[in-house]
Amino acid sequence: MSEVQVSEAEIAVHWQEEGYFYPPAKFIGQANANDPAIRERFAEKNFPECFKEYADLLTWDKYWHTTLDTSKAPFWKWFVGGKLNASFNCVDRHLAKYRNKAAFVWVPEPEDQVTQAITYQELYRRVNEMAALLRDYCGLKTGDRVTLHLPMVPDLPVTMLACARLGVIHSEVFGGFSGAACGGRIADSQSKILITMDAYYRNGELLDHKVKADEALAVAEKEGQKVDKVLIWQRHAGTYSSKTPMVKGRDFIVNDVLQEYKGKIVEPVSMPAEAPLFLMYTSGTTAKPKGAQHSTGGYLSYVAGTSKYYQDIHPEDTYWCFADIGWITGHSYIVYGPLALAATSVMYEGVPTYPDPGRPWRIAERLGVNIFHTAPTTIRMLRKLGPDEPKKYNYHFKHMTTVGEPIEPEVWRWYHHSVGKDEAVIVDTWWQTENGGFLCSTLPAFDKMKPGSAGPPVLGIYPTILDEQGNEVPRGSGKAGNICIRNPWPGIFQTVWGDPDRFVSTYYAKYNKKKDSTDWRDWPYFAGDGALQAEDGYFRILGRVDDVINVAGHRLGTKELESAALTVDEIAEAAAVPVIDDTRGRAVEMYIALKPGLKPDKQIEDKVSAAIDKLIGKIARPKNVWIVPDMPKTRSGKIMRRVIAGISNFTSPGDITTLANPEIVETIKHHVESEKVKSGQTPRELSQAEMEEIKAFGRVE
Ligand code: PRX
Repeated sequence: MSEVQVSEAEIAVHWQEEGYFYPPAKFIGQANANDPAIRERFAEKNFPECFKEYADLLTWDKYWHTTLDTSKAPFWKWFVGGKLNASFNCVDRHLAKYRNKAAFVWVPEPEDQVTQAITYQELYRRVNEMAALLRDYCGLKTGDRVTLHLPMVPDLPVTMLACARLGVIHSEVFGGFSGAACGGRIADSQSKILITMDAYYRNGELLDHKVKADEALAVAEKEGQKVDKVLIWQRHAGTYSSKTPMVKGRDFIVNDVLQEYKGKIVEPVSMPAEAPLFLMYTSGTTAKPKGAQHSTGGYLSYVAGTSKYYQDIHPEDTYWCFADIGWITGHSYIVYGPLALAATSVMYEGVPTYPDPGRPWRIAERLGVNIFHTAPTTIRMLRKLGPDEPKKYNYHFKHMTTVGEPIEPEVWRWYHHSVGKDEAVIVDTWWQTENGGFLCSTLPAFDKMKPGSAGPPVLGIYPTILDEQGNEVPRGSGKAGNICIRNPWPGIFQTVWGDPDRFVSTYYAKYNKKKDSTDWRDWPYFAGDGALQAEDGYFRILGRVDDVINVAGHRLGTKELESAALTVDEIAEAAAVPVIDDTRGRAVEMYIALKPGLKPDKQIEDKVSAAIDKLIGKIARPKNVWIVPDMPKTRSGKIMRRVIAGISNFTSPGDITTLANPEIVETIKHHVESEKVKSGQTPRELSQAEMEEIKAFGRVE
């Protein structure tokens, strides 16, 4: 098997199309999008005006005059002239009708701790008090950036909405990221305030989180950014649950300071539609993560519209998106989209399998959840550890989502049959941090579902698949190419924070032929994913074509991983590659070459893992660290990652004739394969999509 080269033509022959599933009649009857004319309304001939339908879901202080301004292409401006406030749209405007309805239902990880329902009235109070604190105690004003490093607690959306109320740009860093990773983001966004928490529960343990704040500040300062205040929420109000000392004059307990702001009301600041709402850092091809800057009006319209039509949220539903707010999915589909629609949004603090893999279904049963949204990595884990758990619980989902990675058809079918009890419609939503909201998905009441395929483009999105030369790869050809979006849409990010050139070069330069053009048709958005389009028009996403590894639905840049490894003294060179993993989708394997004269040693391998934990976070910890005598390199000295990726996955390393040192391949292969066999890591046979991905890995080099 390992030496077979699979050509694209062969894939066309062997590609197996999956059978369709159909939306249940009960779902169709109640769906928000149930008028067949909807497709026509969003047809290309009605672009960009079609997006008025999404903007009209919001309450504008001043109505906009221009739907789309392309004069500074590709820096698109949506709903120009309009003014609004995101916090008002997500909270205040619902008070008249839904004052006493739960906005959030928060489930702590320890099962003996009480679930909290936060009504829209209570949310209104908390957001106002926090906004008063941010403005009057921290001196924050419109346009300032503030970094949040908060876990899955209600204080996180309260803080985000308080920032939004003032027009302060929040930049939430996933709680699982290390202090150093947070510090880099503080420096890049020039935040003077860090908002964090003393501790939180994860897998049964109360983790010290404040310790990361001290590391973050040290790193930020080294990068030239001084933080004035660290605000610390308490996981158990009234008790400081961290062992890390407070720094006098710098660290403050939010819960205490808030006492001074009890009952304070802060008028929402009316923001221009194009004012930035938040930054969300994501990994790319360079060592430094980039801050995707999202707008207020366009973003909020897009997440409200897609939450309504694709998540099918009605105010009377109980909606649970089981993601972390520290990622874009949580921003768009736990906080902003659902709240814009007056939803009841469930938040869960912990891991899916704590204390056992029946936990999610107990939560669903207890709270009457009827819309469920999660990632393949969680689905795989629950399927592996508790395949029969769902049937023990009496819950009923009308709608389920999978997002973040390609889902294997068998896993999709388990999700449909076991989790969904054959009653729920499923949407497989493809999109990215940069996109604000969904790009491909079936429209739940109309489209048949095909396991493993994201489906057609969503309303108002017109994708195409292009080859390296920019020619369109026809549908049904069985050939893969780069998926691009031909048009702008309201949820697209505005720029890379502080680096507009990188914004253009990464996402638009590849297929743009006229640099000065102000016609959107000249600026296809390059998503960085390989995909193919079947005869029926459905898109199947294969994975990243750049140096990004998608671990458990989280993007990690190879350069970030490699620079972390290179902080270990003994290391001369490092290369990170993906390895197919049955639970996490992909895991990281690290190849390292030592400085001259040094001998391979287990301690060096451990140091590499520790450095990655410290500089990025535990999610990035490599599955294996391989010390090799040399890296396979091109004649110009570039490491050929696809060759080692092939070895790590027991598949063909591909063409090695262009290498400067082809003989090294056999040495590495022998070492890695025999070690893997010894430790029981022989892989299953890879699917064609997986083989394609490995073969293409790092081809952008
Ligand atoms: O490779 C695609 C994969 O996740 C990448 C985006 O990751 P991130 O910015 O972290 O956002 C994740 C949540 C939106 C994409 O480039 N991806 C995302 N959704 C899917 C997917 N791959 C296949 N199918 C999906 N539904």
